[in-house]
Amino acid sequence: MDSQVPRHIGIIMDGNGRWARRQSRPASFGHRAGVRAIKRVLQACEDLGVHALSIYAFSTENWARPRAEVRALMRLFHETMQREVDEMHRRGVRILVSGRRDELSPKMRHRIEEAMARTANNKNGILNVCLNYGGRAEIVDAARRLIRDGVPPERVDEAAISQRMYQPDLPDPDLIIRTAGEHRVSNFLLWQGAYAEMLVSETLWPDFGEDDLRTALTEYATRVRRFGARPAHEVMVS
Ligand code: IPE
Ligand code: IPE
Ligand code: MG
Repeated sequence: MDSQVPRHIGIIMDGNGRWARRQSRPASFGHRAGVRAIKRVLQACEDLGVHALSIYAFSTENWARPRAEVRALMRLFHETMQREVDEMHRRGVRILVSGRRDELSPKMRHRIEEAMARTANNKNGILNVCLNYGGRAEIVDAARRLIRDGVPPERVDEAAISQRMYQPDLPDPDLIIRTAGEHRVSNFLLWQGAYAEMLVSETLWPDFGEDDLRTALTEYATRVRRFGARPAHEVMVS
């Protein structure tokens, strides 16, 4: 496989609110346009050879938004899940949902479980929807699992923690993109993103498309990933 193409991309889809406000419309208008962008980008990932895409759809902190916006978002997630699963399944995409599902409505949980079960054996690509997701919450949940599993302290290592993350089989993201110009992580994939390349795009998420993804991949291909080591060509022989 071409190592210049990331295997797994994470996207912090930001800017829906600003996109809507520019048109004097409510945030929910921007979120709807954001769903259309997800469809475009998922297709572009497939075309460009990116195997897995993790999208940050709703953070554990986003409950602090106005009630009407939260309600509109939840309705949109439910509706989208219902409408898009058939097509995703037909395209062989496996759907994963990461986050604290027990805090979502029973109706939503049911949809999520159905979508994951239905697409569980698909091999053409992975869409990991981070919903009610927080990087810190995920680490807390992993710690709880360690304790529940009775792991003794001397057996707690990085592998033991990684195995207890929400998606232990997903490789770490190679590239994390944040749209709408903000330079912060906002609690996304804190553990898995330890060595991800970071890229900030000025494009607001509803306007993001294949061209923006191509630009991001071109930039990614120029990056030298070091993982803390000294690349051989930099070693001075004395
Ligand atoms: C991102 O867009 C979508 C979610 C957080 C659900 P925002 O709604 O955060 O957009 P801005 O930051 O207000 O522009
Ligand atoms: C991050 O965006 C969360 C999602 C994209 C779901 P936010 O808009 O919530 O992040 P902050 O508040 O600007 O840091
Ligand atoms: Mg935002």
